[in-house]
Amino acid sequence: MTDQTRFLLNESDLPKFWYNINADNPVPPAPVLHPGTLEPVTPDFLSVLFPMDLILQEISTERYIEIPEEVREVYKLYRPTPLLRARRLEKALDTPAHIYYKYEGVSPAGSHKPNTAIAQAFYNKKGGTKAMTTETGAGQWGSALAFACNVFDLELEIYMVKVSYQQKPYRRILMETYGSTVYASPTDRTNYGRSVLAEDPNSPGSLGIAISEAVEVAATSNGAKKYGLGSVLNHVLLHQTVIGEEALKQMDLANEYPDVVIGSIGGGSNFAGIAYPFLRENLKNGKRTRLLAVEPTAAPSLTKGVYTFDYGDTAKMAPVVKMHTLGHDFIPAGIHAGGLRYHGMAPSISALHDAGHIEAVAVKQIPTFDAALQFARAEGIVPAPESAHAIRAAIDEALDAKAKGEKRVILFNLSGHGNFDMGAYEAYLSGKLEDYEYPAEAVREAMKHLPQVQIA
Ligand SMILES: Cc1ncc(COP(=O)(O)O)c(C=O)c1O
Repeated sequence: MTDQTRFLLNESDLPKFWYNINADNPVPPAPVLHPGTLEPVTPDFLSVLFPMDLILQEISTERYIEIPEEVREVYKLYRPTPLLRARRLEKALDTPAHIYYKYEGVSPAGSHKPNTAIAQAFYNKKGGTKAMTTETGAGQWGSALAFACNVFDLELEIYMVKVSYQQKPYRRILMETYGSTVYASPTDRTNYGRSVLAEDPNSPGSLGIAISEAVEVAATSNGAKKYGLGSVLNHVLLHQTVIGEEALKQMDLANEYPDVVIGSIGGGSNFAGIAYPFLRENLKNGKRTRLLAVEPTAAPSLTKGVYTFDYGDTAKMAPVVKMHTLGHDFIPAGIHAGGLRYHGMAPSISALHDAGHIEAVAVKQIPTFDAALQFARAEGIVPAPESAHAIRAAIDEALDAKAKGEKRVILFNLSGHGNFDMGAYEAYLSGKLEDYEYPAEAVREAMKHLPQVQIA
């Protein structure tokens, strides 16, 4: 045991392969369905939205998929990312636990999202795409794809959930700085946006609505535009596994192995990114690491949602998948972790949670910001509100270890920094934040609007 704090890899250690959980998943996710026919989708349907390379990755069961050299070249701008031992936080907590965090906030956009944005922009460019569309909640995903589209010389239009557009003007300006065009969703640019505004001119928007708008624009562009999604889909989770592959090597450098791996969870990509390589070690090499996903009580899809088939977006244009869902017409409370406000969950994570391979916990907004402040004051980094959910759980694990007098090795993914989230911190510091629990009755009500799928 040394007193080392940062565990760094060389550029030559940058992973050469992404890890595909579908090769080892003991509970394969259910088929993806067409939103109109509710029959399994064909590559033809998906090819309206995505380039063929990404469709093939979506359905692949190959264990390792090679990372193209062009993508690795861009990764080198910020990867391998550091792994740190949170010694000062450990001291502040007076815990026997060892706390490690993988820091993805060093990427140009400030989060893990470029890991897939770069790959998606690359495959779109390779497939002949000229322009992309996407949605963004907190603005992290939009910034990441804006950065990546600029690298590969693609145009990008971004539908940003209106409440975030208003809360986070600097994120919008960052996306525009990279050369993208940003709209506050719902907009009057799409049929779906106009229908939402007709019902509620003051709609705060939601990720489900913004996805519908971005999908509509791509689907009606006669092939001119393709769509990019920042989470949920297999290929997105796949691209994020560089996080866990690096972390495995870095834990080795630290001469430790985690008892628990923690990630915040919106659609599931940063959690899967850090957790799936450790899950492979559980499944294939007899390790017994607990994998803990942390969600907000305001959007508790894993802890309160139902595991069933549902639409991926509000307008029922995106594919239907079997997942933990709060219902596709979910309109979340305006909590500050904008990136965690999605109604559904990645199908592979849903299946693994259902089968007991992944644990989940929901945390409230104010205790989450308490943890964010404690972390910032001990370690110096101001976390993204999304990432602070993982910190809350990591601190709770460390305090539990202390209460039980146990040495516990905790690893969490610090998925992004919060330097653009000062509005949220100001609200917290001035006592304006509120806790919010999504009511179970609302979930029961939403289940009446599920697609009527016949497949078992
Ligand atoms: C910093 C950060 N962490 C976590 C998330 C949650 O998304 P996911 O579950 O796909 O990692 C987001 C989403 O925007 C984010 O910006």
